[in-house]
Amino acid sequence: MTQNLELTDIQGNIVKAYGAFNFTKARYLFLRIDNGDKGREFVGAVTTKVTSAVRWEKNSMPVATTNIGFTFSGLQALELPTASLMGFPEEFVMGMKGRKDILGDDGPSDPMYWDKIWQETVHIWLSINGQSIEAVDERYQWILKQIEASDGGVTLLTGHRGEKDEDNLPYQDASVLYDAEGKPTPKEHFGYTDGIGDAVFEGQTNIQARVLGRGKLTRSGHWEPLATGEFLLGHVDEAMDYPQTAPTPKLLAHNGTYMVYRKLHENVGSFNRFLDEQSKVFPGSKELLAAKFSGRWRDNGAPVVNAPDDASKAEWDKNYAAADFAGQKKMLIDFTYNDDIDGAKCPISAHIRRINPRGSLEYGVKDAYERPGALVDRRRILRRGLPYGKVKDPTRDDGNHGIIFMALNADIKRQFEFVQQQWINYANDFKEGNDKEVLLGNHDAKNPGKVVFQVEKGSGKAPHFVNNIPRLIEARGGDYFFIPSITALKMIAGGIVDPT
Ligand code: HEM
Repeated sequence: MTQNLELTDIQGNIVKAYGAFNFTKARYLFLRIDNGDKGREFVGAVTTKVTSAVRWEKNSMPVATTNIGFTFSGLQALELPTASLMGFPEEFVMGMKGRKDILGDDGPSDPMYWDKIWQETVHIWLSINGQSIEAVDERYQWILKQIEASDGGVTLLTGHRGEKDEDNLPYQDASVLYDAEGKPTPKEHFGYTDGIGDAVFEGQTNIQARVLGRGKLTRSGHWEPLATGEFLLGHVDEAMDYPQTAPTPKLLAHNGTYMVYRKLHENVGSFNRFLDEQSKVFPGSKELLAAKFSGRWRDNGAPVVNAPDDASKAEWDKNYAAADFAGQKKMLIDFTYNDDIDGAKCPISAHIRRINPRGSLEYGVKDAYERPGALVDRRRILRRGLPYGKVKDPTRDDGNHGIIFMALNADIKRQFEFVQQQWINYANDFKEGNDKEVLLGNHDAKNPGKVVFQVEKGSGKAPHFVNNIPRLIEARGGDYFFIPSITALKMIAGGIVDPT
């Protein structure tokens, strides 16, 4: 089944990862609505600049994009009818702070330590992605003018932490990281290559090669795009149903979705020390150990399941160098864990395996499911976002650097929250007891985490234990946003949302 999406109606950030289109810079703004009428007028003005999902030809690509979303209290401030507000799901109504126990935001990730802006009431998220910082700034200046023209209707909130803790910035900037020659890279601050795996859904692309390893696995071992309704309200999902998280009227929800925004600080000093210490007792190179934490090698993203030791990585690199562009892409993404059910190659607690087990959870459960990945296909997310800040001293944790993580999904509770709670911070589904995922787990300083690198059953080898895992990632802020379609934006702006 091929589905034609109404690309002119869908916000562009849902269908496109702007980073893949050379948008190397981003700026995120958060606003409060102080007056319903003027707030709606402001939304109407911004809607004229909102970037849709229309396909870009080479010479029609904008230099900057704009997208917009609202918290539940933002929709209240815009005076949506009560009957519409009542249709939003519980987790969205509660917001990210209210869900801290489910997300594991404890200790240093507790909302009381988040950037000051998150002590404010946030109503609107506005994002600008640009091909240069000048393009971002030009669009930012335009938005400032609209804020001024709203005449007290909306306020740009300050309170983002910058280089100094006392900084009180009016926006959060994000950017790709650059190499020593100033070339943009796909790296994040721990040195991993990022931005390879991302879900693909029906209607998003006609290019079959993009679906490999990113869609859903069929019994015959082919990859197909996931159902559109996993990522867009008003469309059929993997359960052959319409997402239950859609508010009324239908037009308000149709072609919209939910976004999780999270500022995640990376404790680079702790990561480097932990890697150094653990590599002293690890039977392999330090780079192999780092790869086993993530499921991909840091230098080029080679999947550990296909390059599980130093020798096989050297072989993988040779084949990669000899492959053409399409062949290289396939080597990076087209894999499963079916030949590694015990986790002897890619540990079960590796970041990408915990978050997307690719059918390995149902493996061997004969005929129980229509597809080998039927369970994981309901837990997928679209990843957007970029790194922020610079690491000044790789031996220290403090400062302002990490990832602005944004996930899009039709059902925050079933998709993002389930992954964060059950697969990152617990391991029941993986039969790994209380072991948390290495990189993201909310490891406790007083009671540091451990994970096991499994061996093949019956091999007689001893498993390897990684101990003393410190808290490597800390939440520094965030919330849940509704990303309406462009039709719904116009309805909200016009005050004509009619739930009857
Ligand atoms: C600072 C925090 C994080 C870091 C450093 C990080 C790093 C990485 C890296 C290096 C990869 C491998 C490259 C790739 O496959 O694209 C990856 C993949 C991925 N990450 Fe993260 N990540 C972070 C946070 C998160 C969070 C919070 C989630 C979701 C709850 C998440 C979900 C994913 C997913 C879905 C993939 C692709 C997995 C696949 O399809 O195989 N990441 N991440």
